[in-house]
Amino acid sequence: MISLGIETSCDETSVGIVDNGEIIVNLVYTQKFHREFGGVVPEIASRAHLQKLLPLLKKALTQSNLSFTDIDVISATAGPGLIGALIVGYCFGRAACYSTKKPFIPVNHIDGHLYSVFLSQTKPTFPYISLLVSGGNTALYLIDDFYKVKLLGSTVDDAAGEAFDKVGKLLGMNYPAGTEVENAASLGDEHFVSFPISSLSEKFNFSFSGIKTSVLRFIQKEFPNGLNKNDINNIAASFQKAVVTALVDKLALAVSEYKVKNLAVVGGVAANTYLKKKIKEKFDPTEFTISIPDLELCTDNGAMIAYAGLKSFETKALELNLITEPFPN
Ligand code: KG4
Repeated sequence: MISLGIETSCDETSVGIVDNGEIIVNLVYTQKFHREFGGVVPEIASRAHLQKLLPLLKKALTQSNLSFTDIDVISATAGPGLIGALIVGYCFGRAACYSTKKPFIPVNHIDGHLYSVFLSQTKPTFPYISLLVSGGNTALYLIDDFYKVKLLGSTVDDAAGEAFDKVGKLLGMNYPAGTEVENAASLGDEHFVSFPISSLSEKFNFSFSGIKTSVLRFIQKEFPNGLNKNDINNIAASFQKAVVTALVDKLALAVSEYKVKNLAVVGGVAANTYLKKKIKEKFDPTEFTISIPDLELCTDNGAMIAYAGLKSFETKALELNLITEPFPN
C-alpha cells in the first residue's frame, strides 16, 4: 500500500510517501527564518506551511513518478503541535481526501516519531522500550505492537531538546541549538563542571528545567566577563554529559524492569552522537537490539507520518469515515 504523509506541526513542512516499510520520497523544508527570533513564531510558521505545502507535494509526486490515483491513504499530523501550523497540513490532507475519496488518517505526531524507527535499517521487534527525545517531548514507552503503547514516564517540565536549545542560547548559539551544542561539546571537557543529573522519585519521569538554571547560574558566577571558545566547549560537554546520563539511566531502568531485549531511541535528540555512543556502551549489542532512525528520520518528517498513518489504517486503530466535508466542522 502506498501512503502519503503530511507533517506541519512546527517549523518543518514535509511530505513523505512510503510503500509499506520503504520510503519512496521524504521531502523536508525547514523554516530557518525563525532563528532570528530565538524560537519558532507560530503565525510565521503557519503562513510558511501554507506557501510551501502544495509545491512540496507536487515535487514529491513528480520525484516519485506517482500521481494521486496511485496513493492508497493520506495521513496528516493532527497534534500535538502549534495549532495554526497543524491546521494547514490537517485541512490540506482532509481536502485532498475529500476530492480523491481516499481514506484520511489523522496521526498523532508522537506516534510518527515512535514508528519512524521501522523505516530505518535496524527495525525493532516487539515488545520494545522506546525513548522519545525531541524538542517538545521526552518520554519512555513500552511498545507491545503498533498502537499498543504504554506510556511509562515523561518529562515533568522541559524536553531534552528544549534544554539543548535553551542552554545553546545561553552559550550564544542559534535556535535550534542541538547540533551546535553537540559540536562544541565534542571539543570540550565533560568533567569541567558537574551539572545536576535529574533523578526524580517518579521512576520513569524526567526533569530538564533545573539543569538550564544551573548552567545559567554557573556562567553568571564563574564568567561575569563573558565566555571564550574553550569555556563554551567545556560547558557544552558538561551539560551534554548530564542530560545524556539522565536519559540513559532512565532507559536502563525501564529496560531492566520490563525485561525487554529491544530498544529504540527516536526524535530530534536521537541524532546526537554522544547519546548514541553512551547507549551502545550501556547495552551490550550481543544481548540487545538497539534501533535508532537515520538522521533525516530523527527530526520531523512526512515519511514517519505516512508510515504511522498506514499502520493506523492496517490495524484499524481509528474508526475512519469517508470525508464528506472538505474541512472539519
Ligand atoms: O523531533 P524534532 O524535530 O522536534 C520535535 O518534534 O519536537 O527535534 C528537534 C529537537 C531540537 O530541540 C534540536 O535542538 C534537537 O532536536 N536536536 C539535537 C540534535 N539535533 C537536533 N539535540 C542534541 N543533539 C543533536 N545532535
